[in-house]
Amino acid sequence: MEVNVLINKARLENRIEEMAKQIEKDYEGKDIVFIGILKGSVMFMAELAKNIKSNVELDFMDVSSYEGTESSGDVRINSDIRNSIKGKDVIIVEDIIDTGRTLTYLIEYLKQKQPNSLKIATMLSKPSRRIMELNVDYIGFSINDEFVVGYGLDYNEKYRNLPYIGYLE
Ligand code: IMP
Ligand code: MG
Repeated sequence: MEVNVLINKARLENRIEEMAKQIEKDYEGKDIVFIGILKGSVMFMAELAKNIKSNVELDFMDVSSYEGTESSGDVRINSDIRNSIKGKDVIIVEDIIDTGRTLTYLIEYLKQKQPNSLKIATMLSKPSRRIMELNVDYIGFSINDEFVVGYGLDYNEKYRNLPYIGYLE
């Protein structure tokens, strides 16, 4: 399969830098906790964190959606965060928001842990695919409904290490 470039490395990383600056401004003087959703978010999370001067703690969750339960949006937590987020300012860092099911579940789940604030930063969004209404605070790029890979995103575990976003043909 051939990979075509959709968003090249420079454009992507410029945009991530812009997002970092925005976050830095919004959280002035506060420590931030990033919760990266494995595995797709790792590259974006690293790039975003490197561009923020304030202190950023990194934590991770590994989740998977139950296949075939279209309406329920049930998400299985394979691995939870390590540290308490009670009273902390938390940003969930996601690779891509498609239907919004994963994040709708995660927001409710993490709210129970009583963070001081909880926001969402995603590298990509496919708004036309959204099923769950979701308020997304930071979006890198909104894209059309096409399957993309690279910069953490995979197709059957392939292409995650591409330094750009591409689509498969
Ligand atoms: P949602 O719960 O439907 O929003 O699912 C989001 C998850 O589906 C993302 O975290 C990705 O793991 C996966 N996903 C959705 N669209 C794509 C894509 O175009 N390429 C790779 N993974 C995708
Ligand atoms: Mg994911």
